[in-house]
This record gives sequence, C-alpha cells and structure tokens, in this order.
Amino acid sequence: MNIERFHLVDLPVIRDPRGNLTFIEGPDGKGHIPFDIKRVYYLYDVPGGSQRGGHAHKELHQLIIAMSGSFDIVLDDGIEKKRSHLNRSYHGLYVCPMIWREIDNFSSGAVCMVLASNLYDEADYYRDYDEFIRAAKEAKDGLLRMPGSAFLRSAVFSRSPVMPNAEPRFRKHAHSQTDAPLEMPRYAEVP
Ligand code: TYD
Repeated sequence: MNIERFHLVDLPVIRDPRGNLTFIEGPDGKGHIPFDIKRVYYLYDVPGGSQRGGHAHKELHQLIIAMSGSFDIVLDDGIEKKRSHLNRSYHGLYVCPMIWREIDNFSSGAVCMVLASNLYDEADYYRDYDEFIRAAKEAKDGLLRMPGSAFLRSAVFSRSPVMPNAEPRFRKHAHSQTDAPLEMPRYAEVP
C-alpha cells in the first residue's frame, strides 16, 4: 500500500537535559505539515478495548500524534488497509482526505492529539463505510479518465492532496522506502 510510504512524519526534536521539545509548523513555516492548523482536538481517558474513528473525511487533512502512551491506527484508502502503531510524540501520522480510519489498541493513559486543517464540520464526514467506498471509487475512476493522467494513476490514493503552495519539506520516517523529498501532489483540486 502506498499510504505507508510517506505519511509518517518525523517531527523535530530539540534534545535537552531539562526535557525534549518538539514543534510543528505549517506550510508558511518549516512545513512539517502541508496545511494550516485550524483546530486541535485530543482523545484521552480512553477505556481499554475502545475503538475511535470509524469514518473518513472529504476534505480535511490531519496529523495524528500519540502525545502519551500508544495506539494503533488502521488506514484504509478503499483499496488496501494498513495498521500502524503510534507511540512517539515526535512522530505524526499525516492523513489526507478520503482515508477511512479506525483507532484502537489504546494503552493506559494514551493521549491521541489531532491537528486538523479545518474547523469541525459534520458535513465533511463519511460515517458510512459503504458510502465512503462508493465515493473513493468514483474519485479514483474520475481521475483515471482524465487525459494524460499517467501521473494521476500512480498518484491516486498514494499522495496527499495537499495545499498547492506548500513546499515539499516532509521528512519521511526512517523506515520509509526512500528518503527523497516528497513531490507535491497534483490532484489537490480533486473533490
Ligand atoms: P468523532 O470525530 O466521531 O470522534 P472520533 O473520530 O475520534 O471517534 O467525534 C465524536 C463526537 O465529537 C461527535 O459528536 C462530534 C464531536 N466533535 C466535535 O464537536 N468537534 C470536534 O472537533 C470533533 C473532532 C468531534
């Protein structure tokens, strides 16, 4: 699955004997994430065995961080699913629009912080999985029909539709398949 290739972002760590510091800047700054942060929310006091998520977003970009403890995220682009374990406050999982996510396996004391590109809007959610699958397929078919869409064919569901003016400063996680800078995806205008 292509989702795994680039969505885990290494965030900077300022190491200090007094305690480490991590910061995150959007596209106008150091560009750790390709969107301006308009909202922050966090999950905490999660009872053992709980599952969160269970939806996709139409346009929202998010960065998900395990600020404390750990949890698993299953990302599903409508074609494949990938389970990731988050347990470091300096790793962020970037999730582009049109990705179904489930979050589970929360450790005791886990805090899941989410940076989001927009304010809360229920209309931006797919909460029905079948509806999401239909929409994902329609989006993919639409892109494949576009003239000269060879790039898009490889890009569909593998690259994030980020802000067009963002600079390609994402750093991939050490386990990524390649350390090349990320290309800015070209299908930002796709609904
Ligand atoms: P939801 O996004 O479904 O939570 P999760 O994906 O983490 O399981 O949101 C749960 C409820 O909280 C839902 O009624 C909407 C509300 N909510 C807000 O009011 N504002 C927010 O920013 C978020 C994320 C949720």
